[in-house]
Amino acid sequence: HALFRPIQQAAPPSPTNRQTKISVIGAGNVGMAIAQTILTHNLADELALVDAKPDMLRGEMLDLQHAAAFLPHTKIVASPDYSVTANSDLCIITAGARQLPGETRLNLLQRNLALFKHIVPPVAKYSPGTLLVVVSNPVDVLTYIAWKLSGFPPNRVIGSGTNLDSSRFRFLLADHLEVNAQDVQAYMVGEHGDSSVALWSSISVGGVPILSQLTDEKALIEQGVLEKIRKAVVESAYEVIRLKGYTSWAIGYSVASLARSLLRDQRRVHPISLLAKGFYGIPDDCEVYLSLPAQLGRSGVLGVASIQLTEEETARLRRSAHTLWELQQQLEL
Ligand code: 2OP
Repeated sequence: HALFRPIQQAAPPSPTNRQTKISVIGAGNVGMAIAQTILTHNLADELALVDAKPDMLRGEMLDLQHAAAFLPHTKIVASPDYSVTANSDLCIITAGARQLPGETRLNLLQRNLALFKHIVPPVAKYSPGTLLVVVSNPVDVLTYIAWKLSGFPPNRVIGSGTNLDSSRFRFLLADHLEVNAQDVQAYMVGEHGDSSVALWSSISVGGVPILSQLTDEKALIEQGVLEKIRKAVVESAYEVIRLKGYTSWAIGYSVASLARSLLRDQRRVHPISLLAKGFYGIPDDCEVYLSLPAQLGRSGVLGVASIQLTEEETARLRRSAHTLWELQQQLEL
């Protein structure tokens, strides 16, 4: 009882017409915010969800599937078994313990390191050619760990890093200057967390550099205000966690924007966590992941932007690298 009668001589599926598959590991608030943004932005033909809690996972899968009439067509599958992720183009890891109110991201390391030893090997086994984006915290150290555990080349393993901090930064600058955040070019780099570095020297709005205005004494924005905004960016997550228990919507949009740049080969620049040794004066033996503005495309990290940093910015970035490097020395992988 066929609903449609097949047409004669249908052409076989063209090999270039490949389906895009994204897997999200961890179906908590962050994983589900990412999943739903991926669906609304039509970034995947198939979306696979993995979580250790089978009932909650099935509930989340059904709830998303029930929106089928309102969404672009995406096949949604879910299982606690990693085989459901097989042949993914992009795997996004969000699983892990999250911060309690007032707790730092770095404090989560031991718990999430143990978890990553169970997550990364099967993910890499089922999708040996996948791009890997780590979101769990502390994101920089966990991305380094995922790189080591996966055996993938570093250009295919990145962390969501300061893509989110930079969005918070642009929102607060835009709010202060009464402009659109999309017209604000501004980067936070370094650790996603307490030692992140604001790149003042390269902030511009609609092509107008802010700092040269400052030295002209026709300040669009004063140093004191900038410093307050930087502190507010670092405080942002703590405030949201205190108020609602976790952060989710902004990280959802942030990671979906990375997924689009990667899978659609957009070659856009995002500050994301990458293997940073050798860039911006970070020594070659300092094997750390931290955020730098990078160009992203279908093969992962295509290059790192050469932004002119002040001496102070470079020094802060190196301090951030050193903090992470020292922490990594204590890890047992
Ligand atoms: C955030 O910055 C908690 O790292 C998470 O929203």
